[in-house]
Amino acid sequence: MSALRHIELDTCYLVHLPEPDDFDAWRERARVLIQCDVPPDRIVWTAAGGAGDLFARGDSRLPAPAPNAPPVRASRRFVELARQAALHTDPERFALLYRLLWRLQADPRIMEDKADLDVRRIEERSKAVRRDSHKMHAFVRFRRVESDEEENGEHYVAWFEPEHHILRANAGFFVRRFAYMKWSILTPRGSLHWDGETLEEGPPAQRGDAPTGDPMEDLWRTYYASIFNPARLKVGAMLKEMPRKYWKNMPEAALIPELIAGAQKRELQMVAEGALETEDRPGTLKAVDKAIHQCRRCPIGCLDNRAVMGEGPKDAALMIVGEQPGDQEDLAGRPFVGPAGQLLDRYLEKAGVDRKDAYLTNAVKHFKFVQRGKRRLHQSPTAKEIDICRWWLESEREIVQPKLILATGASAARGILGKTVSISKTRGEPIPLEDNSELWVTAHPSYLLRLDGEAKEKQTRLFEADLAAVKERLAELAG
Ligand code: URA
Repeated sequence: MSALRHIELDTCYLVHLPEPDDFDAWRERARVLIQCDVPPDRIVWTAAGGAGDLFARGDSRLPAPAPNAPPVRASRRFVELARQAALHTDPERFALLYRLLWRLQADPRIMEDKADLDVRRIEERSKAVRRDSHKMHAFVRFRRVESDEEENGEHYVAWFEPEHHILRANAGFFVRRFAYMKWSILTPRGSLHWDGETLEEGPPAQRGDAPTGDPMEDLWRTYYASIFNPARLKVGAMLKEMPRKYWKNMPEAALIPELIAGAQKRELQMVAEGALETEDRPGTLKAVDKAIHQCRRCPIGCLDNRAVMGEGPKDAALMIVGEQPGDQEDLAGRPFVGPAGQLLDRYLEKAGVDRKDAYLTNAVKHFKFVQRGKRRLHQSPTAKEIDICRWWLESEREIVQPKLILATGASAARGILGKTVSISKTRGEPIPLEDNSELWVTAHPSYLLRLDGEAKEKQTRLFEADLAAVKERLAELAG
């Protein structure tokens, strides 16, 4: 008998997990059981919310591993897939995870075997869970509920029916995205409540607990009608991406049959304008900040990241506009704090411009990226995305009313002008703007970071000259 096999061979264990999505609880118990050499067919795994509730009281006391028990081996791929697959509604999911973990101890390369039935099962379950989360991010629709108490502010409630146990795992997404709103997400599997500071979990809800219809719905409908592109309509793909079961929660879904019917005749509509003009501009920077966190008008706004608001004095004479927050800015929630921001700071200081006197912001308020392993790689926003986000930049301009705007890079210039201009042709001269302010265009600091040798020297000199000209012009405007 092996030194580890200190359980009786015919002992069976009933292991009950306190929550249906509790991967960590499974992992803790699985580690003990593997270390005690308990084979998969000696364990019955159950979890709360399933048939296992009936057996919960029969939960077994687990054996204790020997002090010299070897560590449990699990590849990173296994852990990533297992964490997702644990949220699946398949009652056998925890048994599957344990069987694979057990087999991994003897064959650490098993996860690479695409034909292995257990590997295929865990991959399928993980994929289904990711898909369900994606649907939740895309199709949750909040409705405003009236509150009698003024100081409680507005409260938004959404009804959603997830297929799997994904509610808790996705709480962080909604907290980040709707940080400034008070909201509840009600589902038949449980509920989440965010009051702007604290997240609480609540019991399962019924559809009737959530409100239906509010004025926000008109905005959703207008938006959907404006982004609906009849030229690209593929009904099959649309039904796959937006299954009918979600339609009842989505105000814009009422338009779908009509839009499909009229698709052949309709021209492609401008994305933003129709929708955005239905809304009043926020009148304070705080209101802009709040609104950009709720903005999902373009695909960047639907990524899992935060909006980054401009910062600086609200009556600054100088507004500096970048393209979009980068990785560091997204993490810090502040513009121009990463490598490009540090370079900008250096040259502003050299030109005698105090960053603290300027209002710094971006043409696009969210970080657009593709995930490559652990890294988030910057992607340039499209012209359309910049145009959609201009609504927020214009709102900031209207409030701050800078005398001079410095656009760093082509995206920033487009954010101000609404058209694409060449940096080399426009730099060094003011461009008058309709509100009597003026625009100066220069290169983006990250462009300088990418250069080396002579090109870097030349572009740095031009950049310095642009900042010096801005400093001089600011002094004239102040005088
Ligand atoms: N680049 C930008 O354009 N903006 C930032 O805020 C940071 C880097």
